[in-house]
Amino acid sequence: MVNSRRMLVVVARVLLPAGLDPLRDRFEVREGGFDATRDRVLEIAGGADAFVADPSVPVDAQLLEACGDGLRVVANFAVGYDNVDLDACKQRGVVVTNTPDVLTEATAELALALTLAAGRRMSDAERDLRAGRWRGWDPAAYRGIEIRGSTVGVVGMGRIGHRYARLAHVLGAEIVYAGPTAKPEVENEMGARRLELDGLLEAADIVSLHAPATAETRHLIGARELELIGADGVLVNTARGTLVDSDALAGALEAGTLGAAGLDVYEGEPEVPERLLAAPRCVLLPHIGSATVPSRDGMARAVADNVITVLEGREPPSRVV
Ligand code: GLV
Repeated sequence: MVNSRRMLVVVARVLLPAGLDPLRDRFEVREGGFDATRDRVLEIAGGADAFVADPSVPVDAQLLEACGDGLRVVANFAVGYDNVDLDACKQRGVVVTNTPDVLTEATAELALALTLAAGRRMSDAERDLRAGRWRGWDPAAYRGIEIRGSTVGVVGMGRIGHRYARLAHVLGAEIVYAGPTAKPEVENEMGARRLELDGLLEAADIVSLHAPATAETRHLIGARELELIGADGVLVNTARGTLVDSDALAGALEAGTLGAAGLDVYEGEPEVPERLLAAPRCVLLPHIGSATVPSRDGMARAVADNVITVLEGREPPSRVV
């Protein structure tokens, strides 16, 4: 029998009780706390058998070194794992896991919420009302778009992209998508058409990003692409901030060459570019895509399941490498 009692799980920042409790039942657990600095994380990492990261915690060679040779698993508290150096983990024989599925619904629903909020100018309208600038019912003010009858472009037809496409389709949108692989099941289900990215940006009234952050997708949407989306178009990003050139986005909103944007993610979080904060027709949320009770509890449980299975010598439910 595996004696796992004295194994050490280092949680870089925080983990919800749904994940923390089962880990504490079996292992020693050391937490960095919500505001843990990089230095603090390096300090507490020593001797870890398992390391729990989240999107704000870079897991690189230096951190793996700080964990030491006993490290067996990096469990990311997220579906995205762009914060983890997979090659460095592979080289050290460290398993990497993530938390897919449990957050699909929450993130797709938030993308839909951002689509509606940006498409209907909700942030500008609410800001004006709160500032006492509402002068009465105005037939010309805050005119937006409707999902019914529009073309929605889904960039990245994975689990979240697919669920978002379904929601938009149910509301009456035509679906186009771009991505590395054809999805015949999605094409059959909702008549979705696969296009090259440029073709999608031209065809779509609403563009929602659901692609992972990689070297290839960095600034996938820049000035040229924003121009293709156009002055009436809406851009939604619930994936990762690096997919969009935020300076170009702010410029397009300022100049009126893009209709509106709804963002949940940013380059260099938790910093938000000043120009975006001031830009018109722009809804900004603080990376809350998966922030529902079932989703976040499910993610925490998935982290625990991944750690427990690896430390007990079994295959984890969601292994990345
Ligand atoms: C959150 O951003 C995630 O990738 O799960």
